[in-house]
Amino acid sequence: MIEFRDVHHSYGEREVLRGIDLCLDEPRVGIVGANGSGKSTLVRMINGLVEPNSGRVLVDGLDVAKQGREVRRRVAFVFPDPEAQIVMPTVSEDIAFSLRRHRLSRSEVDARIAAALARFGLTDHRDHPAYLLSSGQKQLLAIASVTATDPAILVADEPTTLLDRRHTRAVMRHLEALDQQLVLVSHQLELFAQWERVVVIDDGRVVADGPGAQTIPYYRALMDGADASDRSPHRAEEGSC
Ligand SMILES: Nc1ncnc2c1ncn2[C@@H]1O[C@H](COP(=O)(O)OP(=O)(O)OP(=O)(O)O)[C@@H](O)[C@H]1O
Ligand SMILES: [Mg+2]
Repeated sequence: MIEFRDVHHSYGEREVLRGIDLCLDEPRVGIVGANGSGKSTLVRMINGLVEPNSGRVLVDGLDVAKQGREVRRRVAFVFPDPEAQIVMPTVSEDIAFSLRRHRLSRSEVDARIAAALARFGLTDHRDHPAYLLSSGQKQLLAIASVTATDPAILVADEPTTLLDRRHTRAVMRHLEALDQQLVLVSHQLELFAQWERVVVIDDGRVVADGPGAQTIPYYRALMDGADASDRSPHRAEEGSC
């Protein structure tokens, strides 16, 4: 459960989030919006990478600003560029690195690495240098590493931006199959059209919220410049958790 309560944020003079109230408890939540609308700022608040100027963000009732350490144990984050996230020379070492603080026995670490490699189709690359992987495989490794610690929530900020169509589909398939709650920022509108919950952000505000079947057509009209404000889909229980 992720909750935003009247969240505002500015970078200097520039106000980029203007009163966000959200309660996200669906297993799959999509976030869409134009470039610069505030999506990354919003999702980075879920694990404390950005702290709001005012308002609160809660994860399972924990205040991200006050209980950051516990929150970060529950929330994993994937960035657009996997290179920013892969820190160790080989594929298996990178997964082992993310497990280092979890006080697991050597055999448990090995079992988790093997499971992560198998799950993301990387078993044959176990001892390969990570930098030699394709971009799609690097993103799968980044996801494998952050989910190996078994977080409750995965936040992925445009994880397929740098990938071709085939690797985009592979990464999306893996993301959709995860056990974790997934909060995904993406421009994959066809995929989101099937999702139960998709939030549309525009100029720092939630302008539509509901099933993708309703919010994606609204978003397309918005981006095409049509005046769709009278048809903006919203959830009945908006703002309350
Ligand atoms: N660290 C920062 N310092 C100053 N301004 C920032 C910073 N990060 C983001 N901004 C500005 O805040 C606004 C919102 O940025 P944000 O990255 O949240 O948008 P976004 O919806 O994720 O955009 P994109 O689709 O391009 O990734 C933009 O105008 C951006 O230039
Ligand atoms: Mg962004």
